[in-house]
Amino acid sequence: MTTVSEFKPGLEGVPVTLSSISYVDGQKGILEYRGIGIEQLANQSTFLETSYLLIWGKLPTKDELVEFEHEIRYHRRIKYRIRDMMKCFPETGHPMDALQTSAAALGLFYSRRALDNPEYIREAVVRLIAKIPTMVAAFQLMRKGNDPVQPRDDLDYSANFLYMLNEREPDPIAARVFDICLTLHAEHTINASTFSAMVTASTLTDPYAVVASAVGTLAGPLHGGANEEVLTMLEEIGSVENVGPYVDHLIATKSKIMGFGHRVYKVKDPRATILQELGEQLFEKFGHDEYYEIALELERVVADRLGQKGIYPNVDFYSGLVYRKLNIPSDLFTPIFAIARVSGWLAHWKEQLTKNRIFRPTQIYTGSHNETYIPIHERNCAINLEGETL
Ligand SMILES: CC(C)(COP(=O)(O)OP(=O)(O)OC[C@H]1O[C@@H](n2cnc3c(N)ncnc32)[C@H](O)[C@@H]1OP(=O)(O)O)[C@@H](O)C(=O)NCCC(=O)NCCS
Repeated sequence: MTTVSEFKPGLEGVPVTLSSISYVDGQKGILEYRGIGIEQLANQSTFLETSYLLIWGKLPTKDELVEFEHEIRYHRRIKYRIRDMMKCFPETGHPMDALQTSAAALGLFYSRRALDNPEYIREAVVRLIAKIPTMVAAFQLMRKGNDPVQPRDDLDYSANFLYMLNEREPDPIAARVFDICLTLHAEHTINASTFSAMVTASTLTDPYAVVASAVGTLAGPLHGGANEEVLTMLEEIGSVENVGPYVDHLIATKSKIMGFGHRVYKVKDPRATILQELGEQLFEKFGHDEYYEIALELERVVADRLGQKGIYPNVDFYSGLVYRKLNIPSDLFTPIFAIARVSGWLAHWKEQLTKNRIFRPTQIYTGSHNETYIPIHERNCAINLEGETL
């Protein structure tokens, strides 16, 4: 029988799979995708090449990459019925909710399910990676009352997304920085949304349901939603002088400082280091950001107050500043995280299918037994579980 001492809240430290997709060393600040350090991929690869690596387990040859990129370009458009459905979404709704609904809707249009067919797997991978950015950009324009912009086949993946979002071709540096951001967010072992994707995948449902459930999980403020909250926090802090008192207040009230802390990393997240450098590149090219000094001071103060607990900036701390400089509205930060993470989710979906067993953990029951059902007409006063009248 399972005992209370075996229970690990949040499944901390409990292995739930054998995986060869990514690796994190939280003490040394190492992140690898298929054994390759994230720094090398950020510097030398592209998001689509990295996606291929994650999903198919090897770097593509030149021809394989060209073919994959071509397929993605070809599948970027979304059906007009999906656009019509999205037009009915309330413009005040959060873009993550819009994305979750539209990702799930893909399952209605591509309902054939053939999980043992490699062609089906490839088609689903291509469709999801290709169409999710289009859906994010479409909702952004439609909620402003504009028609969505059609994808442009002559633009690369990231440049095309920024084009669809802003209705103009992006600066090449902005497009490259954005592409690196996607690479950095593409995969991160068994986090909450990936686990959610794996649990859903283990029922052998379709990949659109897998991605939709992962999007819903990513939306929470303790996961992907944190980068949006970081900007709100920097705004609230307002000045470098206010950082110390602000942090002390959060610590005194046992509140979390957004963009800090990680279940695995006990040092600065390597992705935060790269994102900070990318931010600096953007500030140099497109002008300074008033919040950057506040962010630097915040990093210093948190290291001073909480460094001994291993609380350092995570991936969400600097990503918001980078996206802000790219003129991306803050409620699109998490959908952009989803655009990137869809590759990791799909890699885990594919891996799960090769050795599937449905997830069915256990629990430790803490309720009562042998209670008596009281018919409703006899329940004239509230009774607690011990049978006492309240
Ligand atoms: C990411 C996160 C959910 C990890 O949570 P976790 O592994 O369950 O860690 P816990 O919440 O148990 O925290 C462990 C300790 O560190 C502290 N801590 C963790 N993150 C903290 C933060 N951001 N600010 C202040 N203290 C923090 C906790 O208060 C706790 O202290 P205690 O042991 O004295 O009670 C958590 O660090 C967090 O909520 N961070 C802010 C949200 C965020 O940035 N999320 C994005 C993650 S990429």
